[in-house]
Amino acid sequence: MIFKHIDEVGYTPDIDCYLRHGGYEVLRNAVTRKPEELIDQVKKSGLRGRGGAGFPCGVKWGLVDRKSGKPIYLIVNADESEPGTFKDRYIIHQDPHQLIEGTMISCFANNVKQAYIYIRGEFPIGARILEQAIAEARRHNFVGPNILGTGYGCEIYVHRGAGAYICGEETGLIESLEGKRAYPRIKPPYFPAVLGLYQCPTIVNNVETLCHVKHIVEMGGEAYSKIGTPNNTGTRILCVSGHVRKPGYYEFEVGKITLGQLLYDVCGGPLPGRTFKAIIPGGSSAKVLKVGERYKGKRKVGAEMVDYDWGIEDVPMDFDCLAMIGSMGGSGGVIVMDDSVNMVEALANINAFYSHESCGQCTPCREGSLWMKKITSRMVHEEARTEDGALLKSVADQIAGRTICAFGEACSWPTQSFVAKFGDEFKGYSENKKQPKVSGSLELI
Ligand SMILES: Cc1cc2nc3c(=O)[nH]c(=O)nc-3n(C[C@H](O)[C@H](O)[C@H](O)COP(=O)(O)O)c2cc1C
Ligand code: SF4
Repeated sequence: MIFKHIDEVGYTPDIDCYLRHGGYEVLRNAVTRKPEELIDQVKKSGLRGRGGAGFPCGVKWGLVDRKSGKPIYLIVNADESEPGTFKDRYIIHQDPHQLIEGTMISCFANNVKQAYIYIRGEFPIGARILEQAIAEARRHNFVGPNILGTGYGCEIYVHRGAGAYICGEETGLIESLEGKRAYPRIKPPYFPAVLGLYQCPTIVNNVETLCHVKHIVEMGGEAYSKIGTPNNTGTRILCVSGHVRKPGYYEFEVGKITLGQLLYDVCGGPLPGRTFKAIIPGGSSAKVLKVGERYKGKRKVGAEMVDYDWGIEDVPMDFDCLAMIGSMGGSGGVIVMDDSVNMVEALANINAFYSHESCGQCTPCREGSLWMKKITSRMVHEEARTEDGALLKSVADQIAGRTICAFGEACSWPTQSFVAKFGDEFKGYSENKKQPKVSGSLELI
């Protein structure tokens, strides 16, 4: 769907190529319809946001305060800051008009007159591509004061981000767009749908989410909802990185492929002489999965509750199944680690990132992320203290749920899951101060 043309030989990101492939025909049709009807199609489609939380797009649009009399803004979240995620950049580079068309349809549906594409500062080429594509679209009246002669007008502005992970969090993004430091806002009262950009109702959606809107409006919400699996509709792009033979971007119907099929059939399996050890299925903040562990429980399939007993290779790649086994689909960034990886070093790397990126507003996040970094850094530098394994877990357990934004969870979930599943390696560092001892289990407080 999203990649339908992108991977064709000779497909280029300019508007002429897009038009030759039927581009902007869906917008042309959409502006002849009632906006409420378009919102209804998105609701029927069951589309869930592809930015991280998997929140239903139609529900989000339904929450927008349309009675305030204030302008409604739409922001395209192109910050793509979650480590392991690289799909939005690819769409922007290869097919910017698909994003612009999806954005304009979404703007028309929600009576938005001004939209912003907030793109991370480290993507200067993407920003230039978007600026050029918007200029092309404006020349064809797909963007501007009188779109396709309908009298409806909408402008899109590209805003280059400030180069911080927290600029991807929607309220931090809004602060940054307003020209301030990206300090996330407290919800309530600052739900973007009510009090967003310039204290006006605002929709924030991910790049990939908005591309899907185009396809939903084209085929109808009902038809879209039949793609994928119930409650996990449509397709999604998985970005696979790390220790597989064929890393890259792959688009699948949500839930129609298992993690095992993805790793072995699609990505070609482990590197020569290696075996898989651990997988992070949805960007670095998602809880790690350990190869060899099993997950049991009951789940709803159609009207029935059925038992499941999965190894990680059996888990369908959808929002609900990954949540059932204690992780998440998140941003679609699948990070693969094989048996060459030292899990303490891997976590030290992740913790250094989160500590650097905490905005510092909340004490548990600011101090806790730093302490987790210091402890794992001590471990890899052979300076660990005996109590460090238990201390690490204790610090992580006191962050999540006590902060302004979900960064608190994002920074503590890796530590909690690494320590819970690879405790022996952490225990080895605490006791030996050198190489991990692979025996016994970590005594946790
Ligand atoms: C710390 C943090 C970083 C985030 N970074 C991004 C990001 O880079 N891109 C993104 O689309 N969403 C990101 N999100 C999620 C956004 O806050 C927001 O939920 C999302 O843009 C909504 O779009 P969607 O409903 O289409 O998924 C982040 C959330 C958190 C808590
Ligand atoms: S949780 Fe962390 S990133 Fe979020 S507002 Fe608090 S200090 Fe900032």
